[in-house]
Amino acid sequence: MIDFPAEPYRIKSIEPIRLKSRSEREERIKEAKFNVFKIPAEDIYIDFLTDSGTSAMSDNQWAGIMTGDESYAGCRNFYHFEETIRAITGFKHIMPIHQGRAGEHILYSSILKRGDKVPSNTHFDTTRANIESLGAEACDLVIDEGKKPSCLHPFKGNVDLDKLDDFVRNNKERIPVGTMTVTNNSGGGQPVSLENIRRASEIYHSYGTPFILDACRYAENSYFIKTREPGQGDRSVREIAREMFSYADGCIMSAKKDGLANIGGFIGLNDDKWREKVVNKMILVEGFQTYGGLAGRDLEAISRGILEALDEDYLAHRTGQIRSFGDLLLEAGVPIVQPTGGHAVFVDAAAFLPDISRDLLPGWGLTVALYREGGIRAVEIGTVMFGKRDKNGKTLFPPMELVRMAVPRRVYTESHLKYVVSVFKRVAENRKMVRGLKITYEPEFLRHFTAEFEEV
Ligand code: F0G
Repeated sequence: MIDFPAEPYRIKSIEPIRLKSRSEREERIKEAKFNVFKIPAEDIYIDFLTDSGTSAMSDNQWAGIMTGDESYAGCRNFYHFEETIRAITGFKHIMPIHQGRAGEHILYSSILKRGDKVPSNTHFDTTRANIESLGAEACDLVIDEGKKPSCLHPFKGNVDLDKLDDFVRNNKERIPVGTMTVTNNSGGGQPVSLENIRRASEIYHSYGTPFILDACRYAENSYFIKTREPGQGDRSVREIAREMFSYADGCIMSAKKDGLANIGGFIGLNDDKWREKVVNKMILVEGFQTYGGLAGRDLEAISRGILEALDEDYLAHRTGQIRSFGDLLLEAGVPIVQPTGGHAVFVDAAAFLPDISRDLLPGWGLTVALYREGGIRAVEIGTVMFGKRDKNGKTLFPPMELVRMAVPRRVYTESHLKYVVSVFKRVAENRKMVRGLKITYEPEFLRHFTAEFEEV
């Protein structure tokens, strides 16, 4: 028996997938220089690279696509988008963007300067890269429990409030904005409690610092608040989300996650001056303020998808599916970040592969082994993604060496997940099949997307 509700939808349209032969997989991974980002999607069987932009849209969203008004300015879908998102978030200004990182670039390049600091629980990699490319510093202040994979805590995405208070007090002239990622993707998709968001907001505001939410997975976060935070169980997810947004001065949201859309996002703001800066920049790089780099039909898909993602039957299934996937992996002897978060299961690669030293990139090695063994694509969230080098070229390791198996929304069934567990069992029984790697090419920013490797 499963201990969570089955999918609150049935399948109307399907997309074939096929497991390539072992020799084809061997060829593909070599051609890709051992970087799964470089493997054509057709050659992947189960794709856990990301939950971003990979959702299955509903019949209602596809119907909405047909109502797309492709006028350059003021298309009707924009007004629907604005009205829907304003009602959910409460922000005065809603500006569409083509995806989250475009919003990060537009907002942060409008308000940050060299030498500034931006605290968060944990910045996602594109957020960090956008801040750092402006010469500012992205600072992670998540609670200590959030850095220990096996530590059970209901809100491991919380920011450490004492550290945050000290940090903002000591640097207040250099902090034009503070932020919070919900759920905390890079820290394991872990939620942040409503109380933590409220108190972080109080700290920022007591120093006159604006506070922005990175809200990609706000619906999953709100569902965890409802089910895990004392006193919240009788409230609707939508009500909780509204309170969460009320503590912030704005948000950036990639609608490719909890917007259940394949592309798009928005910036929400209250401040008129920030809005003016953002709109001017948007027109320069994304497009007019009523489309922000999107087609009218995309705006409509988001307006409908964002409401579907607040449906509590859907959220109960979604979080239950991830939890049960995590439980099956634990039973198979695979150490994971616990409790499971909202959008993915994060495998603790350092604990799973203790014989591969961290400078031989065990997380990356596991992504290669999963493709080789089962045609599965997962993503390393460890040294390749977040490691740095000191002045002497020595690697500075991030706190965790994880491999993320992000589960696309409404796409895979229980048997797909069981197949993945069976592949993990084979890898667990023969860990020697996982090889260490060294980097042979890397770009300056976001190296994991294009880096190349050699097996050692
Ligand atoms: N913030 C968070 C927390 C994210 O997870 C992402 C994207 C972004 C911002 C940027 O949004 O992709 O629309 O530009 N995360 C994807 C992932 C890529 O796989 O986790 P984007």
